[in-house]
Amino acid sequence: MKIDGYPIISKQEVVSLIKDGDTVAFSGFTAAGAAKAVPVMLAEHAKQEHSRGRSFRIRVISGASSGDYIDNDLAEAEAISWRAPYQGGKKLRNQINRQEVEYIDMHLSHVAQTVAAGFFGKVNVAVVEATHITPDGRVYLSASIGASPTWLACADKVIIELNHRHSPRLSELSDIVIMPPPPRRNPINVSSPLAKIGMPYAHVDPKKIVGIVENDEPDQVEAFSQEDETSTKIADHVLKFFLDEKAAGRIPSDFFPLQAGVGNTANAVLGGLGRHPDIPPFYMYSEVFQDSMMDLIDSGKLLGASASSLTIIPEKLAQIGDNMDFYSNKIVLRPQEISNHPGIIRRLGVVAMNTALEMDIYGNVNSSHVMGTHVMNGVGGSGEFARNSHLSIFMTPSIAKGGKISAVVPMVPHVDSSEHSVQILVTEQGLADLRGLGPMERADKIINNCAHPMYKPYLKDYITRGTCGHICHDLTRCFELHRNFKESGSMLPEI
Ligand code: COA
Repeated sequence: MKIDGYPIISKQEVVSLIKDGDTVAFSGFTAAGAAKAVPVMLAEHAKQEHSRGRSFRIRVISGASSGDYIDNDLAEAEAISWRAPYQGGKKLRNQINRQEVEYIDMHLSHVAQTVAAGFFGKVNVAVVEATHITPDGRVYLSASIGASPTWLACADKVIIELNHRHSPRLSELSDIVIMPPPPRRNPINVSSPLAKIGMPYAHVDPKKIVGIVENDEPDQVEAFSQEDETSTKIADHVLKFFLDEKAAGRIPSDFFPLQAGVGNTANAVLGGLGRHPDIPPFYMYSEVFQDSMMDLIDSGKLLGASASSLTIIPEKLAQIGDNMDFYSNKIVLRPQEISNHPGIIRRLGVVAMNTALEMDIYGNVNSSHVMGTHVMNGVGGSGEFARNSHLSIFMTPSIAKGGKISAVVPMVPHVDSSEHSVQILVTEQGLADLRGLGPMERADKIINNCAHPMYKPYLKDYITRGTCGHICHDLTRCFELHRNFKESGSMLPEI
């Protein structure tokens, strides 16, 4: 059978097209728009091959993380040897941390350019979810753009996962361009969050399409848990900061475009912004469009949003498809190269709000590596938004694991965003505005405003006893809290 001239292929044909050692580029930016059927076929195939004593492991690239079919199921089948640029699955994370899988943790705006330049070698096969494809090679993508346009352009062979569940009208939100290779690039003409500069479809050479796999599955996006006391307190501090900035005349009446990381804290902050009568309606220029943003659009508080994916529960995705006349001029989906582009983030004056694992007393932030060694997810888009934003905010609860871990430490054992990219730090304890402060002033402010009371005495003592130049550190103690945790299960023995 054929669809628009392209053959529908069976599982047997799919697995015969993808060989052990191949690099496979999957669509998906989070679970939104991720390839679904082919990863499951490959996981089953890998298990069969392994049971026959044959090797089957592939190199996996996707836009960002890609949902459970890849980061858990394919990983569980021990079918991944190498992964880039971000992941979010427990199984894959454990394999990476056991050094069974190589993992390239990288800025997301770099991905398309890195692949197009050949830095990762050849892409043997691209597997891209779409709502529709035409005989001349126009591919209408589903709930995310990510780096799929680049996969279609660079891969030797292409499999299209045609998803009948998604509304074909989703592509009305897409604005797709592929950047020419450097050094021949022109300025990118995005001068407002909703500006459109491209086409509603990606393009593929029809000769590269080896087949179509049909699919009717929803994206595996789960709802966030309710706002808890800690995230609500963090949100209140951020809200107060915005209101003070507005009163001081540092925020224009129509606000700055906002970016928000994914997760419960970001969700609580967005909810708080939405409810507050003194926060004016605003735009977002972010990488992920999440559930809380939909509520804000519906209430009129969010005037419009640019992102690379619609990471929303299936019911809300259906609501967009069913009411496209309302949403089509309020949401733009872009390739991640554009949604996370440093130049556009700087031009628009984006206010970036991301979540940290831990921060040090001078303002360096670790978003990705627990105790400096074990990756959690990755840097994702946090680094490029923080580095290029008008205001860069990092938030985190002041303690983890019931107080056995302090999120404020003398020195972070891994740096994703350095002190130069961080201006505002927030925990449920309070907010530290670091603008214009030297290192020792920053340390005072972070310890006093953000650290948990259990850890304040230790941190205050730390800065009085080190060697001081421009910054004070005691190189014999700077990782003492982390060492304590590794040795005794708590950063401070008495906790
Ligand atoms: N040391 C060790 N573990 C820590 C920790 C620390 N300093 N801080 C938190 N944790 C643990 C928590 O206990 C929790 O463990 P559990 O899963 O066993 O319960 C886990 O880390 C997640 O913590 P949580 O507070 O639930 O975090 P979150 O869901 O808000 O995610 C990040 C926080 C940093 C992991 C997440 O935001 C992330 O991956 N960020 C990097 C990418 C990014 O910012 N992307 C968006 C950019 S657009």
